[in-house]
Amino acid sequence: MLVPISNRSGQSIKRVGAMFAKTFRYIRWFAPLSFKLKRYEIARRIFPSAKRQYELDSMVGPWGYWEELRHYQITALKTFGMMPHHRLLDIGCGPLQGGIAFIRYLDAVKYTGIDISQKSLDAGLQLIEEAGLSSKEPVLLRSDSFGKNELTERNFDYIWCSQMLYHLDEGLLEKLMAQVAKFLAPDGRFYGDIIGYPNEVTESSSWNGFPFYMHTAESVEKIARRSGLTVRNLGQISSYGYPSEVILGTNNILELAHEQPLPRQ
Ligand SMILES: C[S@@+](CC[C@H](N)C(=O)[O-])C[C@H]1O[C@@H](n2cnc3c(N)ncnc32)[C@H](O)[C@@H]1O
Repeated sequence: MLVPISNRSGQSIKRVGAMFAKTFRYIRWFAPLSFKLKRYEIARRIFPSAKRQYELDSMVGPWGYWEELRHYQITALKTFGMMPHHRLLDIGCGPLQGGIAFIRYLDAVKYTGIDISQKSLDAGLQLIEEAGLSSKEPVLLRSDSFGKNELTERNFDYIWCSQMLYHLDEGLLEKLMAQVAKFLAPDGRFYGDIIGYPNEVTESSSWNGFPFYMHTAESVEKIARRSGLTVRNLGQISSYGYPSEVILGTNNILELAHEQPLPRQ
């Protein structure tokens, strides 16, 4: 069909306009993130400090957000009521992205971190030394049993499990819950996040060799109840200071507590 010249140029103008609008939307949303990552990508090849930071970031997840994610972790726990005298167990502590802020905030001997990766724990130990926090006597333990074979202390006021629950299948989640029930003080609280939506992560995604499992608050509750724990969904982690532009910002944070109040040991 023949279209009059004036109509055709009108359509082209509209198409070009739509293209500009789309490009502008893309730049507005994604460019700050990709420019940040690009700068980081270049810096890590030139500066030793950026290379080291890159290695630390690689042990926890998103690159280029170390300080923001540390801030999220300590802010969230303070929001949930953690005070300097409380005892904290950090399960899957990694290289202490949150751990350093926790140790700095807590009184001496109140922080215990466990992780399956010795490499991450070694990096964490070095950060403790560099931050001058050794006198706080934090305890770091390598464990593939969520502390069952290594931890003697119970009665933790807070158990924190950031960005790890979704790497555990149902069997591991059940084992974790059994340990949480043992280690959590009678009025203690456990916090951990599960994948939320919208999200690009699927069951076939993986991170550093760890698969992803799409647990829901309901499926976690079913498992947690077997260990006498209740579950409350507190909503998206971005509401607690997690940078919303970072993938996983839509994750939901769960609060677990003993179903029945227990006598203090
Ligand atoms: C995404 S990183 C999160 C690290 C830290 N919690 C944070 O938010 O900064 C997940 C961590 O969980 C640890 N992890 C995975 N499976 C584990 C298991 N079964 N027992 C203990 N740690 C585990 C990994 O080694 C890694 O350090």
